[in-house]
Amino acid sequence: MAEKKTFYITTPIYYPSGKLTIGNAYTTIAADAMTRYKKSRGFDTFFLTGTDEHGLKIEQKAEAQGIKPQEFVDKMAASYKDLWKMLDVSYDRFIRTTDEDHVKAVQKIFEKLLKQGDIYLGEYTGWYSVEDEEYFTESQLAEVYKDDDGNVIGGKAPSGHEVRLVKEPSYFFRMSKYADRLLQYYKDHPDFILPHSREKEMVNNFIKPGLEDLSVTRTTVDWGIPVPSDPKHVVYVWIDALSNYITALGYGSDDDSLFKKYWPADVHLVGKEIVRFHTIYWPIMLMALDLPLPKQIFGHGWVLMRDGKMSKSKGNAVYPEMIVKRYGLDALRYYLMRAIPFGSDGIFTPEDFVERVNFDLANDLGNLLNRTVSMINQYQDGHVAPIAADQDEFAQDLIKTAKETIAEYQKQMDALHFSQALDSVWKLISRANKYIDETTPWTLNKEGKSEELSKVMSNLAESLRLVAILIAPVMTQSPVKMFEQLGLDWNNEDQKKLEFGAFDWNIKVTEKPTPIFPRLKNDIEVKYIKEEMKKAKPKKKTRSQQKEEKHITIDDFDKVKIQVGQILSVEPVKGSSKLLMFKLDFGDGNERQILSGIRKFYPDASELLDKKVLAVTNLKPRKMLGHESQGMLLSSEKDGQVKLAIVGDEHEVGAELG
Ligand code: ME8
Ligand code: MG
Repeated sequence: MAEKKTFYITTPIYYPSGKLTIGNAYTTIAADAMTRYKKSRGFDTFFLTGTDEHGLKIEQKAEAQGIKPQEFVDKMAASYKDLWKMLDVSYDRFIRTTDEDHVKAVQKIFEKLLKQGDIYLGEYTGWYSVEDEEYFTESQLAEVYKDDDGNVIGGKAPSGHEVRLVKEPSYFFRMSKYADRLLQYYKDHPDFILPHSREKEMVNNFIKPGLEDLSVTRTTVDWGIPVPSDPKHVVYVWIDALSNYITALGYGSDDDSLFKKYWPADVHLVGKEIVRFHTIYWPIMLMALDLPLPKQIFGHGWVLMRDGKMSKSKGNAVYPEMIVKRYGLDALRYYLMRAIPFGSDGIFTPEDFVERVNFDLANDLGNLLNRTVSMINQYQDGHVAPIAADQDEFAQDLIKTAKETIAEYQKQMDALHFSQALDSVWKLISRANKYIDETTPWTLNKEGKSEELSKVMSNLAESLRLVAILIAPVMTQSPVKMFEQLGLDWNNEDQKKLEFGAFDWNIKVTEKPTPIFPRLKNDIEVKYIKEEMKKAKPKKKTRSQQKEEKHITIDDFDKVKIQVGQILSVEPVKGSSKLLMFKLDFGDGNERQILSGIRKFYPDASELLDKKVLAVTNLKPRKMLGHESQGMLLSSEKDGQVKLAIVGDEHEVGAELG
């Protein structure tokens, strides 16, 4: 027997930094559905997913919980595996970048590239956003903060997260060397990057303007894979992360039989925001390692919310658990694969979700099954006769639709067009529903045309058998239920031949069919989902809570100089409803001017004269409405009420707090 053709598919390895959303589920369910489909087509499949566990963000999340990074990622990885189990995601390996075989293999890869001169030591300067795990050049920042001399001292990433300047020795990957080879590869392999539009984006925005060398190590991060020959460096995310696709198969380990069998990957599924890493850096890494390139990278679109992309860090997410608990797993898997065509963006709304479940699942599919099984019981004691050889016009059209559906479905699935593949299945479902209207079995029954009636019943049952098989890669539970109600057995491969008439019925259906998708009450369910989404939103932390989470060292505290000062004069600042201008004595013979935005809390400011207060006296002076402020008065705030920190007379003017 000829060896089976192999099919190797991957998802990104997710950062275990928070609960996974239906966005992460989108990619993973797509990979799972494709694996099941390829299996059904006779392929020997390997499906890889996992977690990308190193980096500063993880280090900080662990610290915030007061646990070691390893303990943190162990917990997260376990919870991700639980989720995939709940979603019937049957991967062949769940790789973690902290797995020992991966760590060793990455070290080998790094040293090899270093030795060949593809990696060299240099210095990195850039702006880093911890939340995004991404470095930016100044021109990429969405906002910059400048000091009085116009130097950039901080800013915001395009995501809105704060960035900070980092300057450190770093190893770099010489990317530019491979640019021409990469462009040629794109030309020779027109389906390497899908959808095709993303290839143009890569070529025009990144490769043509000149590929910059990629910084691949950090000295300021501890939680990472150490560079063996220079261990103060850890390998920075992308070399570590991307390698997972080969290390998971044993590349760089003693036993690399899986690698030999399955590499190159047939397709890497990724979200569009990381297409660049997968279509530029990853192929170049593989060229440098002298390994074959993956056959295809599919950059799918985003599951959006009305307020933008759904993400783990943004707090606008829908979590799969809630949907599955209330509507069942197949409703979620179906919705994701049908509603958002692979390659495009799509907005999740509770309204759209409920509508799809009602129309497509409860009405079209659920009713067809329920009516069919009920009629078979009512009209012929539950018996389904073999498919007849001679069929009338209506039946012939139904059979033709079934044939076309199967061909169209396979064509679309092979192209990873899940939504279109399901469209074609629903065409068959509609056709079968129409067939009931055309043949009106109740009339045939009344008129005693039992032979015709029996043909109709068999044709309907046969259509449903095919539908069950076709939806099975996407929906893992309904096909089993459908088979059960039709009197079939999902584990019997003879009953799963994908051709109209390929199964010889002569079977009794179940006596008591139950709807596989109960109809949902629109208003109630929309409200339910909205409320669950609200509940899942992380509560916004107050400044005080944020401070509590971040421990500072005594050195940090020592940087702040707080002194007792006595108020010599106080007056409102002209043109401002908020500011008061104070002159204070700090016992050094100089009068110090400090502005404070507390005017509305002290309508009669003269009550403050002579009072002793606390002030930070080593803050960099700054101008407010043209007046210089040389420090900051301390005050307390609760429920919107602000009070200056006035101290008793026992405190000496100029005394320092500590
Ligand atoms: O990027 N819509 O991990 P990550 C569609 N560790 N897909 C979404 C999505 C959404 N709203 N949200 C997440 C990383 N995804 C790296 C990858 S791979 C070598 C390293 C999916 O946790 C989508 O597949 O940020 C996206 O690319 C991925 O999750 C990002 O996961
Ligand atoms: Mg991300």
